[in-house]
Amino acid sequence: MANEKHALIIGASRGLGLGLAQRLRTEGWQVTATVRGNPPAQLEEAQIQVEPLEMNDLASQDTLAKALAGQVFDIVFINAGVMGPTGSLDAVTPEAFSSLFTTNVLSPVRLAKRLVSNLRPGTGVLAFMSSTLGTVTSPDAVEAPLYKASKAALNSMVNTFAIQLPEPRPAVLCMHPGWVKTDMGGPQADIDVATSAEGMVRQLQAYAGRAGLHFINYKGETMPW
Ligand SMILES: NC(=O)c1ccc[n+]([C@@H]2O[C@H](COP(=O)([O-])OP(=O)(O)OC[C@H]3O[C@@H](n4cnc5c(N)ncnc54)[C@H](OP(=O)(O)O)[C@@H]3O)[C@@H](O)[C@H]2O)c1
Repeated sequence: MANEKHALIIGASRGLGLGLAQRLRTEGWQVTATVRGNPPAQLEEAQIQVEPLEMNDLASQDTLAKALAGQVFDIVFINAGVMGPTGSLDAVTPEAFSSLFTTNVLSPVRLAKRLVSNLRPGTGVLAFMSSTLGTVTSPDAVEAPLYKASKAALNSMVNTFAIQLPEPRPAVLCMHPGWVKTDMGGPQADIDVATSAEGMVRQLQAYAGRAGLHFINYKGETMPW
């Protein structure tokens, strides 16, 4: 349909990315979603267009950008991320450290650079999946200090990326989804995927046209940097 809004969700094989894609479809959006392995049946069932992407592979990023050339998105949501090493810092290898920061910090911004021109002028929203743990002044995450540092670094990189965008700038969001029951969040988390996704979709729509950088949670509350 000509008036249908279109969203691109990066990392939608499971968890929050899958939940976001499903929620947007429920609300009548056209959705394109990326996965790096076999797509789950839910994406096909919801008539979601699937594109392959290994976020840490620049050739794969280029292939995606080429496949999407000319398409206009109202939302581009870069969601994929990993927890990385937990436990003793002495046990962390340089490879594991590098892999965490490549996935959570470097790759999302490299990808955003390739896709930002696909945003609908004036109202397109570019979102990155951050975390409340990315707030540097908050004393927390003794069990996952590297993950916390990676989300703080993502926020910082997004800040630098956003100020370099040409005018008129889009709305750029660093989003905290809540503590959510996913493979990463665990079964003891506060809320389920549907609750988080419903809230995030509401915020994504509320921020259309609100140019500049915002760090918010799924309820729309402003988060401290
Ligand atoms: N759950 C929470 O409570 C919570 C709280 C704050 C922030 N977050 C953030 O929310 C995002 C999604 O988390 P989640 O809880 O849904 O985790 P999840 O269930 O572990 O899902 C992670 C997703 O990221 C994808 N991914 C990881 N590395 C990738 C790569 N190199 N290339 C392409 N895709 C990749 C995974 O794909 P595969 O299936 O192929 O592995 C999967 O789709 C993450 O950025 C996470 O840090 C989560």
